[in-house]
Amino acid sequence: MKILVTGGAGYIGSHVVKALGEAGYEVLTYDNLSTGNKWSVLYGELIAADLSDKETLKKTIVRFKPDAIMHFAASIVVPESVRDPLKYYRNNTVNTLNLLDVMLEQGIGKFIFSSTAAVYGNAEKMPVGENAPISPVNPYGSSKMMAEKILRDRHLADNDFNYVSLRYFNVAGADAGCRIGQAYKAATHLITRALKTAKGEFQKLQVFGTDYPTTDGTCIRDYIHVDDIANAHILALKYLLDKGRSEAFNCGYGHGYSVREVIAAAKKVTGIDFEVEETGRREGDASILIADNTKIKRELGWQPKYDDLEYIIKTAWKWENNFHGKYS
Ligand code: UFG
Repeated sequence: MKILVTGGAGYIGSHVVKALGEAGYEVLTYDNLSTGNKWSVLYGELIAADLSDKETLKKTIVRFKPDAIMHFAASIVVPESVRDPLKYYRNNTVNTLNLLDVMLEQGIGKFIFSSTAAVYGNAEKMPVGENAPISPVNPYGSSKMMAEKILRDRHLADNDFNYVSLRYFNVAGADAGCRIGQAYKAATHLITRALKTAKGEFQKLQVFGTDYPTTDGTCIRDYIHVDDIANAHILALKYLLDKGRSEAFNCGYGHGYSVREVIAAAKKVTGIDFEVEETGRREGDASILIADNTKIKRELGWQPKYDDLEYIIKTAWKWENNFHGKYS
């Protein structure tokens, strides 16, 4: 089986390429290396190109003839999406459309899409299930929601096209063997920022908002280890190749931690009492995002292996301390 992975040099994509390679799939990564790194592609060939370059995309697909495509390439930073929404609609919505155009032309009908919990916005019920209203509160979530709608309509128009949309909650941690991990020059995610602050790369960690309607006033998120996300992709791929039904699945553990709880865990794991500053809200943040993961467990037989915040932070900490600092 041959799988084309867009964004396979990025953080989540590279962990999935690793899982695909270990499971014996033939992999080809298509990545523009804007945030990804060459060294993080542990299996298969890497084509360094952009999804807006339809010519190269088409040539790659014609040559490789994938049985399925996994689409990770995207912009993912919520506050950046508020400042620069067009970048998000271009990279996340329009580029998905480009990929679907080429897939249609080349008769490829299996697609796994990296979606996000951000499509739910401030959902009324938490944990949130897949049938909850889709109501994003930032352009990042909207750009992914639009791509999901396009996938739905494409499937309705043509039953030979099937997709699985995986809605990720907050992905964190790193490969236990420390070969790959999050390696963005400008890290914005909470756990990575906290660990880089512990290392002394930032002077202090800011807490964005302490007046949310939560137990301690800070936002609550469902943090999931990246290798559990990778395994969900392998199961989703088998499901799609076997049953071929188009579905969306939440990927999260079903419980959450506040920003303050994450900071306390990061201080415990690192043994460093780094400086924390409580400041105002960041634009675009939902108060609470926790997955109802009943459906993915039931339909895909997914069983989380690393549902342990300290383990997640430990693997990320090990990665931070071993990372060679080379970006490519
Ligand atoms: N936060 C801080 N200080 C920081 C960084 C983050 O207080 O330095 C807070 C944020 O305000 C938020 C929480 O920590 O309340 C988590 O923020 P992240 O930036 O780590 O992650 P997001 O929840 O904004 O977004 C992430 C992914 C999205 C995904 C979403 C789903 O980037 O792709 O989780 O929950 F959609």
